[in-house]
Amino acid sequence: MPSVYIETYGCQMNLADTELMRGQLARSGYTTAADPAVADVILLNTCAIREHAEERIFGRLGSLVRHKLARPHVQIGLAGCMAQHFRDRLLTSAPLDFVVGPDAYRRLPALLGGDPFVDVRLDGVETYADLAPDRAAGVRAWITIMRGCDKFCTFCIVPYVRGRERSLPLGAVLEQVRDAVAQGYREVVFLGQTVNAYRDGDTDFGDLLRATDRVDGVARLRFTSPHPSDMRDSAIDAMATCASVCPQLHLPVQSGATPVLQRMQRGYTSDEYLRLVERLRAAVPGLALSTDIIVGFPGESEQDFEATLELMRTVRFDNAFMFQYSRRDHTKAAKWDETVSEAEKGCRLQAVIALQESIAAEINAALVGGEIDVLVEGPARRRDGWLAGKTPQFKTAVFPSAGASPGDIVRVRVTDSTAHTLIAAAL
Ligand code: SAH
Ligand code: SF4
Ligand code: F3S
Repeated sequence: MPSVYIETYGCQMNLADTELMRGQLARSGYTTAADPAVADVILLNTCAIREHAEERIFGRLGSLVRHKLARPHVQIGLAGCMAQHFRDRLLTSAPLDFVVGPDAYRRLPALLGGDPFVDVRLDGVETYADLAPDRAAGVRAWITIMRGCDKFCTFCIVPYVRGRERSLPLGAVLEQVRDAVAQGYREVVFLGQTVNAYRDGDTDFGDLLRATDRVDGVARLRFTSPHPSDMRDSAIDAMATCASVCPQLHLPVQSGATPVLQRMQRGYTSDEYLRLVERLRAAVPGLALSTDIIVGFPGESEQDFEATLELMRTVRFDNAFMFQYSRRDHTKAAKWDETVSEAEKGCRLQAVIALQESIAAEINAALVGGEIDVLVEGPARRRDGWLAGKTPQFKTAVFPSAGASPGDIVRVRVTDSTAHTLIAAAL
């Protein structure tokens, strides 16, 4: 039987798509190879969000080509957002056999048998609702509930490489949830680029959370990434009332300056974002908030940047993913002059990182002495005999094993902390 080796880059949606492709390929007789040196097909599931992501993948391709030199029958290809971005240009600029975009995975096995191919048709309705994924082992099941994005933020390539927004039918989502529970997964994470824009007829995202909460065996339910403009009462209410929905939210803000947010076409002002945070915190006690921040967007003044630092000091995020603006093809902002030098972007990035690290360290230090429930995932990375897992707030916690297994939820006491980890002891 032919075997396929898959490497995944980018966001959780790509991880879920890799599981989808693995399932689809397995049904056509492919086995999974853990090492590219023995695989018949080498597939990189790629990301195009920033230039750096694409450079990394080109670098990796350069080193994987040697497998093809040693064994000429090997097929190397790209899937995902960068495949969609570069399309057939990839076949001439890189030694590739196939290029398959995010809406063409259903056809992948059929295409692989033949000549080199490029399939980057975006299709507007494809949700793969009927294709069972081959999930990675673990305690957490990713379920993509909607695909694409219609927001067109002026910096972002996603709408161009993932196509239009579409949701899976409610019944298909719930079936995947039940399957995941039956397979032993304890936590379900709903995925979508604007996951809370989910809609199936009259069923909105809040209704979906409530329906999932009623499924037996879902210990924890999360979702990512919600868009602030789509965060309506129905969803906030579900977060407040459903026992399985975790008190944790990744709510990308991008900037603290309203003029920048307007040029980004994010659809909210800095004040509106802050009011949303207040509503969420009032509704969900103990809510942990994380965010994404871009520094150096075209036109971002010193004062705008200060407003971002100020918003971070006001909200006090538990965690943040921070990026230097990267100009992307097709986007509106790509036509605008870059006004912030690379060096200045670097300084601004260092400043937001430093601020965030100190805030996160303070938030976590305040948890020392308290008790937390950890969903155990497996052995801790740097401590022999310790286990690691996540709290409901999605913080990583480590503690000495004491006989717990992956999938158990264990109550422990926090004894120490860093900006990114809680250190705990058995009660
Ligand atoms: N759909 C999510 C974001 C997905 S992309 C949302 O709207 O919130 C993940 C993050 O990458 C974004 O939140 C943004 O912070 C960052 N990002 C996207 N495009 C970028 C670009 N051109 N340059 C730098 N960072 C970017
Ligand atoms: Fe990109 Fe904006 Fe869509 Fe998020 S909402 S994927 S940032 S266009
Ligand atoms: Fe990257 Fe595509 Fe996700 S661009 S961040 S892999 S949707």
